[in-house]
Amino acid sequence: MNNLTPKQAYEKLYKISKRLAYFSSVLSILGWDERTYIPKSGYKYRSELNAVLGEYIHDEWTKDYIGELIEIAKNGELNEIERSNLYWWERSYIRSKKIPKELLINHIKVSTVAYQVWKEAREKSDFELFKPYLNEIVKILREKVQILGYKNEPYDALLDGYEAEITAEEISKVFEELKGETIRLLEKVKEKDFKRRLINGHFEKEKQKSFCIYLLEKIGFDFSMGRIDETTHPFATRIHPGDIRITTRFYEDNILSSIFGTLHEMGHAFYEMGLKEEYFGTPVGEAVSLGIHESQSRFWENIIGRSLEFWELFYKDLRRYFMHFENIKLEHFYLAINEIKPSYIRVEADELTYNLHIILRFELERDLINGKLSIDDVKDAWNEKFESLFGFRPRNDSEGILQDVHWSSDMGYFPTYTLGNLNAAQFLYKINKDLGNIYELVKEGNFKTIYNWLKENIYEKGSLYKPQELLEKVTGERTNPKYFLKYIEDKIEKLLSID
Ligand code: CO
Repeated sequence: MNNLTPKQAYEKLYKISKRLAYFSSVLSILGWDERTYIPKSGYKYRSELNAVLGEYIHDEWTKDYIGELIEIAKNGELNEIERSNLYWWERSYIRSKKIPKELLINHIKVSTVAYQVWKEAREKSDFELFKPYLNEIVKILREKVQILGYKNEPYDALLDGYEAEITAEEISKVFEELKGETIRLLEKVKEKDFKRRLINGHFEKEKQKSFCIYLLEKIGFDFSMGRIDETTHPFATRIHPGDIRITTRFYEDNILSSIFGTLHEMGHAFYEMGLKEEYFGTPVGEAVSLGIHESQSRFWENIIGRSLEFWELFYKDLRRYFMHFENIKLEHFYLAINEIKPSYIRVEADELTYNLHIILRFELERDLINGKLSIDDVKDAWNEKFESLFGFRPRNDSEGILQDVHWSSDMGYFPTYTLGNLNAAQFLYKINKDLGNIYELVKEGNFKTIYNWLKENIYEKGSLYKPQELLEKVTGERTNPKYFLKYIEDKIEKLLSID
């Protein structure tokens, strides 16, 4: 090993990385299959298969010689791309190497059981059932953060796994500003009738499906390198370049779910489709973080998909598919799809109150991991915080602390949803600067120009920069809530002006 030149060491790492990426591709297609078409009795052996492949990738990447290769390669003269690949390689090597295998396996085992118990507890709306398992998960995570190490506080180590090099302190500053302003804006719309009832009706599944495909085609989703299928929990996944898949769900009594689910996943898919093919198999050829990924899904779902201009373009088509809208004015449809109303459930929340749900979870997770909050107090803390943010308390556990699946396995993930919302609006302002008013392009159906801007500035960059670095490069600053607040306040003014 020691006789290798830095260049040779880099080449070796590149080969291993690329080879393992193909194994990850196999896991991706298995994962897609598992959430779409696998027969019921296939689950048991499928999870064994996943475990075998996952373990193989982990073992290959934690061998001592990987660390040696990284050390040698670091001494070479590196270009920007090589430097960045080495940064991510080293990071993932160190993170995987530090965690003892027993802890890893225990975490997977506890999560598997905790997930089953969580489902039952949610059905019965009984937090007491889930509490001992949440306790186990928190114990494991606390152990993990001590092993991984952190910048200021234990919770940082979990955050770092999803959003490299951001700290809880920075997020909490951003969230504090967002929280106060959100509550102020919420006051403004308290009395507003968004006419949501107008869009209640019955919408045939097959028609919804063809309408969603129609939208995807018009916006520019490339079906020669992607497809759409049905699932209970929509997702997007890249198998490898040239094969990016999305899913959505259809409720015959709620047409919004399939349309906005599709636009959301399309946004994720665009990011994956726009990654540079020649970098496949290396970190630079991959999406950089959840907070950036979610900015892309929210961008297409909300900033574009819930705009008046988008529906000025497509409302006649919606009417063509569904008679229901014949007598509903476009402005009223626009109002209805943008209803702002505090509610119990995060996944059903609107653009404004969604972030309050995230802030609540972030504050609780942070306190749990940092040891400031005990499991015995977490339910009361949830309900009290909820009341202080929303003005009312959850009526039971299933619409309160038990509503999300996340805590059956991990923490540190939630903040990336709100970072995504904020980043999306921050990109919007930069696009408007570069291209003029984006909504003029939307009105004309010129999505290509928008896509190309995103591709050039975000998608193609992959993981060349760390998430906050990317924001700085593109918009001139790190995540700043003022862009989202300006965007949403303008929108609220517009909504309030419609009778
Ligand atoms: Co998403």
